[in-house]
Amino acid sequence: MSVNNFGDRDENHRVSKPTRRQVLFGAAAAAGGALATGAVGIAGAKAAALPVPESAKSMGRPIDPEAYGLPSKFEAHVKRRRTDVFVNKQNFSDWSMTPLQHQHGILTPNGLVFERHHAGTPDIDPKGHKLVIHGMVKQPLQFTMDDLMRYPSVSKFHFLECSGNTLTDWLAVKSKTVQQTHGLLSCTQWTGVPASWLLDEAGLQPGAKWVMFEGADGSSHLRSIPIEQVMDDVLLVYGQGGEMLRPENGYPLRAFIPGWEGNCSVKWLRRIKVSDQPWHFRSETARYTDPMPEGKWRQFSFLMECKSVITNPSGGMQLKGPGLYEIQGFAWSGRGRIKAVDVTVDGGKNWHPAEVEGPVLDKCLTRFRFRWRWRGQPATIASRAVDSTGYVQPSVADIAKVRAIVGFVQHHNGVFPWSVSANGEVKNAVA
Ligand code: MTE
Repeated sequence: MSVNNFGDRDENHRVSKPTRRQVLFGAAAAAGGALATGAVGIAGAKAAALPVPESAKSMGRPIDPEAYGLPSKFEAHVKRRRTDVFVNKQNFSDWSMTPLQHQHGILTPNGLVFERHHAGTPDIDPKGHKLVIHGMVKQPLQFTMDDLMRYPSVSKFHFLECSGNTLTDWLAVKSKTVQQTHGLLSCTQWTGVPASWLLDEAGLQPGAKWVMFEGADGSSHLRSIPIEQVMDDVLLVYGQGGEMLRPENGYPLRAFIPGWEGNCSVKWLRRIKVSDQPWHFRSETARYTDPMPEGKWRQFSFLMECKSVITNPSGGMQLKGPGLYEIQGFAWSGRGRIKAVDVTVDGGKNWHPAEVEGPVLDKCLTRFRFRWRWRGQPATIASRAVDSTGYVQPSVADIAKVRAIVGFVQHHNGVFPWSVSANGEVKNAVA
């Protein structure tokens, strides 16, 4: 094997991890040579004298003491957008998707957290907002936002995924980019009060089994949640990514259920009612149920199963000639932590272990990467994750053996392929 700029390679086109010196200085340095003009770096750039840039010749923009910071104007293309596949004319029951292909690291910036709402975003003044707890409790309680924020709080990193994520691309190519196929997904740090603390204070009556969350928006969105879950890890959240929730994500208060379908994390939370049975709301009957074989339907499919996707390179990107590429992506599981991710570059004939980057947190996006030397031939790339329970991300064919893939089907956690053509074009490769 020969040493190159990036490390050694094996027959499977994998490239071993380069040393820091190899990355910084290229082959010449690795071989003991001096870095001379003409040495070639990772992107093929040759060293040359750097002219003094215009930006270094004058003073920059002074601090605006009042401003809320925004990304560089050169990043204006990085924004939430909805898919073109479902064209929704009335714009109230709507969604926008996170640009995962531009997300550097596991946290989604607040302005890029996906949005999904059934009746638009309400404008709620926290001064007037109240949360009520009632039903099968010993003492009904009412809280203002000030009351809630006086409680001790906890902060946790978790992903949030809509069960409709990847819904359009089960069996045929409908979407182009990973934002359109997987962008009903984001990951942030959630801050709030565990729901169990408030329910303990209210005191559960014997026989209490289900909890209802109700939103203060135009859809009065409602969900029934089993009480064990609520007492386990459900948060009543007011903080997201270090600041107060954004209006579109539930300001000033929402429920958040780690690892469960986004629909259960009721935004603009105003009411918690305790009962001995579920309510069977619209989002538990007409919507958010799954078709199963033999005409049956599955209700209350709360958990978001283990899933992963390659975000770089992904649909709509263009490889700039043969050479080394780092395949990157995200893996996550509603059951726990990510244990391993495998990557294929030959359409699933061979799978290779990817590097899983820490921190690897419970029910949180986890980054993976895999160094790949692309030789300029057509390739199909995909990732497959395994979580801490040993659950392996299935193929769509495996899912189809136990579920009915017809119509408006949610909970798509199948392996997702991208094709790379000989000219480097990357496309959605769903069969
Ligand atoms: N809560 C209320 N009150 N109204 C809604 O329309 N949409 C649900 C859930 N909570 C919704 C809601 C759905 S379908 C999802 S996927 C998540 O909120 C999306 O949360 P986000 O918009 O903060 O990403």
